[in-house]
Order: sequence, then C-alpha cells, then structure tokens
Amino acid sequence: MEAGSSRHMGCDGSIHCVSPEKAIMELVGVSYEYYDRFKALEEVDLTLQEGVKMAIVGANGSGKSTLLQVMAGILFPKKGRVLFRKRPVSETSLRDPGFRHFFRSRVGYVFQDPDVQLFCPTVMEELMFGPLQLGLPHEEARSRSEEILEMLSLEGLAQRPTYMLSGGEKKKVAVASVLTMNPELLLLDEPTNGLDPRTQSFLVDLIFSLHEVGKTIVIATHDLSLVMELHAKVAVLTEDHRIHKVGDTEEIIEDEALLLKANLIHEHTHRHDGEKHSHLHGHFLFHRHTH
Ligand SMILES: Nc1ncnc2c1ncn2[C@@H]1O[C@H](COP(=O)(O)OP(=O)(O)OP(=O)(O)O)[C@@H](O)[C@H]1O
Ligand SMILES: [Mg+2]
Repeated sequence: MEAGSSRHMGCDGSIHCVSPEKAIMELVGVSYEYYDRFKALEEVDLTLQEGVKMAIVGANGSGKSTLLQVMAGILFPKKGRVLFRKRPVSETSLRDPGFRHFFRSRVGYVFQDPDVQLFCPTVMEELMFGPLQLGLPHEEARSRSEEILEMLSLEGLAQRPTYMLSGGEKKKVAVASVLTMNPELLLLDEPTNGLDPRTQSFLVDLIFSLHEVGKTIVIATHDLSLVMELHAKVAVLTEDHRIHKVGDTEEIIEDEALLLKANLIHEHTHRHDGEKHSHLHGHFLFHRHTH
C-alpha cells in the first residue's frame, strides 16, 4: 500500500490488483507499431490504480515513450483497448468535444524531448496555453502560471523565448506547462534527464507532493536510482516490447535476472592486477568495486 493514502487500502496498484473500480487507466492487449512495421509495444496489459506512482522502466527502444503517448491519447494503437475512467480513449472518442475536454483536462504528458513540446513565443505564454485551451479565464490562467513559475523558481525566465533556454530549463518549463493544467494523471517521460542534482531532487520532492495530494503519476525512465528514490510501483518493459513484470521497487531491484534481461544492468568484465573479474554493473546498485 502506498504510504499516507487510505484510498489504496488493500490494493497494490499493479496488474495483479483486483479492484477495477479504482482504476484510472487500463490498457488491455495493447500493441503498437510505427508505420505498421516497427514494433514498439506488444500485448501490453496494465492497470493504473488511482493515486499510484508508477515507474515504467526499460532499455532504450523498449517502448516507454510509446506507452506514455498511448496513455496520453497522442498515439492510438490498432490493437487493444485504452480506457480512462472506464471510457475508451481513441481517435474517435477524442473527436467528441465533451470527452476531449474531460480527458485533456485530466491527463498531462511531459515529452521526453522538450523541444517537441514547447512552441509558444515566451515561457509565460507556454504556461498559460494549456489553461486557456481548457477555457479558463485569462486571469486564472495567468495566476496559475505565476504560481507554478514561482514554485519552480522560473520567475526570472517568464518573458524569455523558449528557444533561448538551456536544456534543463526547457525541461522544467515543459513540466511547468503541464502543471498549470492541474491534471489528475501526470505522465512524465524521463523527467530528470538533463537536470542538475539539485533540480533533480526538487523534482523528486515535487513528485512526492503531487502524490500526496492524490495525483496519479507515471514516470518513464531507465534510471534505477530514480526508481529507488521514488519508491514507486515498477513495470518492466523488456526489449521485446512486452511488460514482463509489475511489482514493488524492492521486488524488481532484487530480480537480477529480470534487470539483466531488460538491459537495465549489464555484465561487465574488468581486469585488475592481471586477473579477470566478471561482475554485474548497474548505475548505482553494483557500482562499488570491492576488489
Ligand atoms: N517515430 C518513430 N518511427 C519509427 N519507429 C519508432 C519511432 N519512435 C520510436 N520508434 C521505435 O519504437 C520502439 C520503441 O520506441 P520508444 O521511443 O517508445 O522507446 P523508449 O523505451 O522510450 O526508448 P528511449 O529510452 O530511447 O527513450 C523502438 O524500437 C523505436 O525504434
Ligand atoms: Mg523514450
């Protein structure tokens, strides 16, 4: 059970959890291919319980971004079903203005590459864009944006064109522009990439705070140390684009065979004093050389 939240009582937030009434999003048998040729997801079943923090982990190319974009209603699988609060998410359903507003106001996606996401002339306009699209009054959009800018220490950049930002600043603005919409489901694609250690730890704190207020948060990453810090449910995508396991952080971290299979750690050969040693390498877990 997630700490500090009674609403998850008796539920482990994974595909094994049988409490469909609390599911915020369900993926059933989802397969996705780009251009009908390049496999990206294969028969993915995943249920997100409301209020859960989940990390989707997997090697480069395993399908993390594709999975998040399917959840965000950006990509639509030909095979399988995606449900948000029991309602199908598809190109057809999102053509309905009522459902589109319902879905877009509740689900926020932060792209892996902020350059794909940011397109407004200034940071302030970028932050106000989402709330204005949702029909919020101008003043409300502005006050929300000011609040978020302050929270992320971005006030000094409000009038800056987004292309005149550093990579890390762009990433923060991308996160900020989704927060102004106050979504109940946040999909964050490699959120700590390119951030300095202080900003990374701020982002982790932010994720915890959002979780405490009941948001459902999904993070795609190959950074196992971030997963450890977040203490999230973990879904492991392997290179065959399938979800091989969903479990608690400890359970996944201890499953060396799975982490090797998913290419999240690797076997590494070193030569010391003329001797050959073979041992496992992970970015944090097996990093210390004891010999
Ligand atoms: N626009 C695209 N056109 C064709 N194939 C694509 C496209 N985007 C992704 N793919 C392919 O789909 C698969 C999954 O890609 P995806 O970007 O979802 O992986 P990922 O797990 O997010 O990788 P990374 O860790 O590098 O971000 C990969 O094999 C990739 O080559
Ligand atoms: Mg990706």
